[in-house]
Amino acid sequence: MTVGILLVGGFGTRLLPLTNKTPKPMLPIANLPVTEHQLLAAKAAGITKVVLATAYLAETFTPYFGDGSKWGIELKYALETEPLGTGGAIRNAAELILSEISQDEPIVVFNGDVLSRHDLGAQIKLHQSSSAAVTLHLVNVEDARPYGCVPFDENGRVTDFLEKMENPITDSINAGCYVFSPQVIKEIALGKVVSVEREVFPQLLKSGKVVQAFVDNSYWLDMGTPKALLTGSQDYVGSREFIVGENSKISASAKIGGASAIGNNVTIEENVEIRSSIIRDGVTIAQGCKLENVFVEADTRVPEKTQASGAYLADGEIIPLKF
Ligand code: GDD
Ligand code: MG
Repeated sequence: MTVGILLVGGFGTRLLPLTNKTPKPMLPIANLPVTEHQLLAAKAAGITKVVLATAYLAETFTPYFGDGSKWGIELKYALETEPLGTGGAIRNAAELILSEISQDEPIVVFNGDVLSRHDLGAQIKLHQSSSAAVTLHLVNVEDARPYGCVPFDENGRVTDFLEKMENPITDSINAGCYVFSPQVIKEIALGKVVSVEREVFPQLLKSGKVVQAFVDNSYWLDMGTPKALLTGSQDYVGSREFIVGENSKISASAKIGGASAIGNNVTIEENVEIRSSIIRDGVTIAQGCKLENVFVEADTRVPEKTQASGAYLADGEIIPLKF
């Protein structure tokens, strides 16, 4: 058995106003919450027990995911009354599983805002064969500055962990999926604010523990900005012009394309044009609207002939997004 912890408690500040009512991991990528894509990937790698480490807007997860049985996963919820940081969140969530697992059972931790098609099964195997304290999934990126910069040696041993450095010394970065040996998590202070990136990983390295690099450059995206969210959704819609949920009505004269995702109970009236956008559930788009790269909030009525590009639309509001 392998168990998982999903870190879903961050504020999602860079995604405001999209994260005003919806926590980042519940935002839709091709009509499914980011967390659901992650649960599917976890299940595919043999993970059958998962804890969601919640803090901000914690109450929004349970109604959707319930006990996880729909996904064949036993799902539990850990709650931080104040966000404990990534390390504190992992420690707090582990309380719900540590007593049920053996010493050598790996615990897989996912940043809750990452879409990844890397070979998680191979990452877990590498962790076991290298007897590491923790095994980090790494990817190579063009600009490493917004990430954790992670150099490693010829044996794949991580030599340093440098969170968000101005002049990155390598283009290999922390992709936000870790396989931990349970003992390492037990040693994190319980109930304290701790960062894995700034405290736990650097301390492990300082004390000479094995931190192993698992490099896999398959599809990977941190969807933490509006542009990345729209890109991620388009990537998952793929080569289709658009996808549409249940009970939605689209006028025959509407033109929809650019890998848009239209949710459930949406009405799209005559002569509407939509490209590369996310339209949430319960939205009505009145006739003659032209929308591109927009995110339309749930239950919004977009008045007729609205034109918008690169924007967040909610009732009576059009807010430009940073692109
Ligand atoms: N439960 C809980 N509590 N979750 C948290 C907390 C907290 O206090 N703080 C952050 N998280 C969750 C976020 O919701 C997110 O899913 C994840 O932890 C990472 O936080 P981000 O705020 O998205 O961090 P980042 O994108 O700047 O950097 C992280 O991810 C990069 C890869 O995408 C770091 O891990 C970097 O090293 C890494 O390169
Ligand atoms: Mg992030």
